[in-house]
Formats: sequence, structure tokens, C-alpha cells
Amino acid sequence: MKLNDPTLLRTDAYINGAWAAAPQDRRFAVTNPATGETIAEVADLGAAETTAAIDAAVPAQKAWAARTAKDRAMVMRKWYELIMANAEDLAVILTTEMGKPITEARGEIAYGASFIDWFAEEARRVCGDVMESPIPDKRFLTFKQPVGVFGAITPWNFPIAMITRKVSPGIAAGCACVLKPAEQTPLSALALAEVADRAGIPAGIINIVTGMDAPAIGETMCADDRIRKMTFTGSTEVGRILMRQSAGTLKKMSLELGGNAPLIVFDDADIDTAIAGTMASKYRNAGQTCVCANRIFVQDGIYDEFARRLTEASEAMKVGNGMEDGVEQGPIIDDQGLEKIERHVADARAKGAEVLTGGDRHELGGTYYQPTVLANMSSEMMMFGEETFGPVAGLFRFSTDDEAVAMANDTEFGLAAYIFTDSTSRLFRVSEALEYGMVSANTGIFSSEVGPFGGVKSSGLGREGSKYGIDEFLEIKFLCVGI
Ligand code: SIN
Repeated sequence: MKLNDPTLLRTDAYINGAWAAAPQDRRFAVTNPATGETIAEVADLGAAETTAAIDAAVPAQKAWAARTAKDRAMVMRKWYELIMANAEDLAVILTTEMGKPITEARGEIAYGASFIDWFAEEARRVCGDVMESPIPDKRFLTFKQPVGVFGAITPWNFPIAMITRKVSPGIAAGCACVLKPAEQTPLSALALAEVADRAGIPAGIINIVTGMDAPAIGETMCADDRIRKMTFTGSTEVGRILMRQSAGTLKKMSLELGGNAPLIVFDDADIDTAIAGTMASKYRNAGQTCVCANRIFVQDGIYDEFARRLTEASEAMKVGNGMEDGVEQGPIIDDQGLEKIERHVADARAKGAEVLTGGDRHELGGTYYQPTVLANMSSEMMMFGEETFGPVAGLFRFSTDDEAVAMANDTEFGLAAYIFTDSTSRLFRVSEALEYGMVSANTGIFSSEVGPFGGVKSSGLGREGSKYGIDEFLEIKFLCVGI
């Protein structure tokens, strides 16, 4: 890996402002999914080191919360600036350990940094209230205080942005964190910590616990009553475990869990917009995002043309190592991810799906998979009920608006949904009827630091980013004053 600043490549954990190896220098390998090569051996911490990180975070949080919001904001702003100054190196680290094309990695660095910039500003806008008192000789006020130390567990698919989306509202509010990055992508997390250190974020405010034993690290965070909040992005199954494990210490929870996004294309949609939006949503990060379109519902009148155009566009995609020029789709993160895609495609084929393009591993070998379009999809197939997390576009035909909405809502999940239509009234009617936390109309990409990100039903709890995101890290205190 060629970096302008090789000192960004850290392989020890970061606890209390210092780089920490594991006991007996235990390490785990981080591999490049594009080549299968080992790129680093990272410190393999466990439960005891997680507790040590919490020990460090507790006093650090108190000192950090005592500083003014303006002061915290200035340090965060420096962190933002240093990330942007090192954006190219951070993008190279990200692509090398995760596989997404370098153009997408560059986009993720800017997206990830935008949360720091945004929440540095939001830190200064935290306000309480003075209420009209119902009792003549009493006055009622509220003010907001940081929840304290929080635990964060982040996924491999956005190794930078899912960290900043959690850490920046937390530290803006005056909290400290103990964060476990995904074992597939710890290098981006450690590089972020290196830059945070250079920016002057005090020791103990951001602690990065790297390790393979995610259940032990997660359980330690959940069981410790000094951790007052857990924030997690990942599967619904793990989200439920963390919630159960946190019940004993009754923590605040933010959970950004699985999706099963419907994308609905109505007859009156502008076909160019619908194709561009579907390509952007479906193939972003090789289909490995929680908000990628998973079930594409297309109305009768536009179905054949849409299927033909989507097939052509999918066939034109360049698949390869994300570091190569022009690559639009990188490898799948690992064998487990690849096998799930294969299972879903085999199940769909066995139940009558027609392969319009792709449908197999890519000739590049490794974990590469062909951009795939399947027609004649039905609700009996696995792809209807669970997210595939891969570059497979399954097309379902429908006739009426009610039918489309009923199929879209027929899932336990409720993260993101997409609609394509030129009718304003349909846009509002359908958006309101969709049981999802986010609806994207006539565009395939909606994520931003300004819009609230989060789901309903089994897709989770809470909202990240936006003016609401900081509230997840604040408690409201009521003060009643007798006069
Ligand atoms: C995710 O896949 O969890 C995040 C996607 C996004 O932020 O757009």
C-alpha cells in the first residue's frame, strides 16, 4: 500500500491516547479482498482491554464535558480539517482493506468527515427550555447533559463513515467512547484515531479496541454500567443480542440494523432517472450497504424496457480491483458474503427466476461476483425476505399502486425505500404508505450528514446524522426552582 504519509498506518489499538498491543502481542491478519493478500497484523484485544478502555474513558469524559461546547467544536473542526488534508491516504487504506472502488472510498472520506464538521456546529446549538410554570412560586427549566461514556460497534462496509456518524455527535455532546471496529477493516479506524490524536482530541475520549472476539468485547461493553449508551450498525440478529445484553444496565440504544429496501418504478417514471437511480442504489459498494435496493418492483407498462436497459447498464459495469482506474465494482468482502449471494441466486433460479445477465462468480476469481439482473422474481424467494448484500438486482412485476405498497411493506424490515414516479400526488401517497424510516424519491442516493438516517420495525432504533443525531447522546434534566 503506497501512502504519502505511511505513519497513518497503525496496527496497535488506541487506548487512553496511547497505542496498545495485546497481551502476548496477539494479532490478527487483515486481508485485501481484491487480492487475498495480508496487508497488516493488528492487535487482538479482548474483554480485559475493553474494561481498561472504559476505565480510561470515564475520567476523560468528565473533563471533556466540562469544556465549553465551542472549545470541543474547535478541536473537532481541526480533526475534520486533518481528515480532509489526508483524504487520499485514508481512501487508499479504505479501499485496500475493504475493496470498494477508490472513487467510492474518496466519496466516503468526504461523507464521513462531513459528520464531524456538522456535529462540531451542532455542539453549539444544544439548548434547554424555560417552561411556563403551572405553579406560581415555582419555575421550570430543562437542560441537556451528555449521557456519559458510550460503546460503539461499527461495520466493515463503511469503515470511516459509520465511525464518524457515531463518534462525532457523541463527542460533540461531551461524551467519550469505546469503539470496536469490524475485524475486516480496523486500519481505517486506527488511521482516524491517529488523525484525531494529531488534532488534539484528548486522551481517553476516543478509544479504539481492535479484536477478533467481537462477542466478548460487545458483552463487556453492554454489561458495564459505566457505559450509558450503546450504538451499533450491523445485523438485526446482533442488534437484538446487544439489546438483551444491555437490559441489565438499562442503557440508551441506537441500532442501525438490516434493511430489505424496496425500489418501486411506476409506469410514469422518467426511465433515464429510474435506471440511473437503480444503478446507483443497487451497485453502490457492490450492493453491500444496508440501504441498497434489494427488491425492485416494476410496473407492467414499463417493465420490459426497464429490464432491458438495466441489463445493458449492468453488463457495461467494470469489475475489478478498486485501486484500478475506472473500476465501478470491487470484490465482495469475504467468502461468507459471496456464499450468501450464491445461495440467494440459486434459490431464485430454482423457484423460476430468469437470469438476464450475470448470475455467477466473476471470471476474476477470488470473491468477485458478476453484476446480475434476475427477472420473474416472486415473494417465495429468499431475496424477498432478506437482504442479499451483493450486486444482484431482482425484478418483481406489479400492476397497481396498492399491490406495490403491500409487497414493499411485506417484510419485518423498514430502513430505506425508493420510488420513481413523475406524479406528485403518487409520490406523496406512496411515501406516506411505506413503512420505512427513509424514502428516496427519483434518486438512488440520499445519504447526507443533514438528513436523519435510521429505520423502523426490525431495522432499528434512533436516528443518526441531522439535527436529531446529537439528541441520542444527551439526557434531558428537569430543574424545578422554588422562588
Ligand atoms: C449502511 O449501509 O449502513 C450505511 C449507508 C449510508 O450511510 O448511506
